Amino acid sequence: MLKGKELWYAFFAALVITAVYATVVILTREIPRASGFFGHTLGIFGFILMLMTETLYSLRKRSRSARWGRMKDWLEFHIFTGLVGPYMVLLHTSWKFNGLAGVVTAFTVTIVISGFVGRYIYTRVPRTLDGTELAGAVPEEVLRRTRQLMALWHTIHVPIGVALFVSAFAHIGAALYYATFLK
Ligand code: HEM
Ligand code: HEM
Repeated sequence: MLKGKELWYAFFAALVITAVYATVVILTREIPRASGFFGHTLGIFGFILMLMTETLYSLRKRSRSARWGRMKDWLEFHIFTGLVGPYMVLLHTSWKFNGLAGVVTAFTVTIVISGFVGRYIYTRVPRTLDGTELAGAVPEEVLRRTRQLMALWHTIHVPIGVALFVSAFAHIGAALYYATFLK
């Protein structure tokens, strides 16, 4: 069962990242540019964390051998990277949201909000540490309805992820071409 530990870890990671960002702003007396060294680094590392969010939990969920870690820990890690990655990417934007890059940011914000909704539905049902619903813990009717709601949520959350990564790769390709290599 998720207890919110992962939200605290993400919060503390965000505090550390904010402190580093604030130090850079104070030292350079400007907002880090998205294509500058610091802004670029934030974008790349944030994006790597987001890619891990998109892939690792799904891979573990579909693996038949339960040897590499409990589902609960993987979902906690999913939420941790799913919050810290988007936060780093947000600082990467230099607070400008033009064109395609703005669309990618909108998808990123949407998937994080959607993640919180999913986490809320998911935690309504008592589960074992491996994510299996505990039979008999709540009336069968509640379990059935929660499962339906979770399935509906999946049909929204997952396509947002796909749209996000398709547009993110287009942004990365275009940004690297125009802002990095053509310079
Ligand atoms: C989901 C991840 C990402 C999001 C949401 C995002 C979003 C943004 C936004 C909003 C901007 C500012 C656009 C503007 O000036 O109006 C930007 C700029 C930029 N991004 Fe990203 N970015 C992401 C990942 C990356 C990655 C991984 C790279 C590099 C490998 C990258 C490279 C750049 C560059 C070079 C610019 C500067 C473009 C310019 O100055 O014209 N971005 N990004
Ligand atoms: C970059 C951000 C994120 C991406 C790309 C992402 C992507 C995904 C994907 C693809 C799945 C489907 C996994 C599967 O069933 O195979 C999923 C499930 C889930 N995500 Fe996220 N997610 C992100 C952020 C978040 C956040 C911030 C939260 C919570 C606050 C969250 C909570 C969940 C939950 C509860 C599930 C369902 C777990 C299950 O049914 O087994 N996600 N996510």
